Amino acid sequence: MKIGVFDSGIGGLTVLKRLIKKYPNNEYIYYGDTKNIPYGNKSIEELKMLSSNIIEFLISKKVDLIVIACGTVSSNLCYYLKDKYSIKIIDIVTPTINYINKSNYKNITVLATQRTVDSKIFSKNINKSVKEIPCPEFVPLIENNDFDNLNYYLDEYLKEIKNNDLIVLGCTHYPIIKDKISNYFKNNVKILDMAECIDIIQNETINKVDLYFSELSDTIVNNINKILESIKYKIY
Ligand code: DGL
Repeated sequence: MKIGVFDSGIGGLTVLKRLIKKYPNNEYIYYGDTKNIPYGNKSIEELKMLSSNIIEFLISKKVDLIVIACGTVSSNLCYYLKDKYSIKIIDIVTPTINYINKSNYKNITVLATQRTVDSKIFSKNINKSVKEIPCPEFVPLIENNDFDNLNYYLDEYLKEIKNNDLIVLGCTHYPIIKDKISNYFKNNVKILDMAECIDIIQNETINKVDLYFSELSDTIVNNINKILESIKYKIY
């Protein structure tokens, strides 16, 4: 199967990596919209236009399935995009919500972009106590690989969280700083990466990973190497 995966930048590579590990025998095409990042503060109209362009690009590459590896697009536009295109589209938020609803976790905090928090998708669809916290500064720090102020922002965003048994990384960039978030809680709380919840059933034999970015820099290329580690890929 040929699977298209997209995000605003390198965050979706955390999803791509999990998909490749879980389903290695596929051909993957990734698109990171690094020219237009961040998505987390864009209007719904802008997000509609940007994500439609990417989906049409992936369709032109003859993918069989598209995974929206972006919490912001998934939470605001998954119905719009699934309705608009006949190709099978999997978003990253719906399986996460299903997983949480079936789990025994009781007090859930979702960390996400402003636009995802505004959509209230988690609090509306999870039948448990849910708090959603916007963490707008995380994405630029992660994309720029510049963590000097990370501790400040960790404290700023996480200090109010108490008595939680599950923290959901509601933005696909955040798994890149998962260890730092976990350390902040003295490794005492379960932290859920949304990509853990995705299920695709397939069984084929090709293994190929192609990456496309709307803009590239040395920092982005270094970040890609760090995230994908030993996975073989080609950047276009
Ligand atoms: N990684 C994306 C998400 O999951 C987008 C972050 C951004 O571009 O603001 O929401």
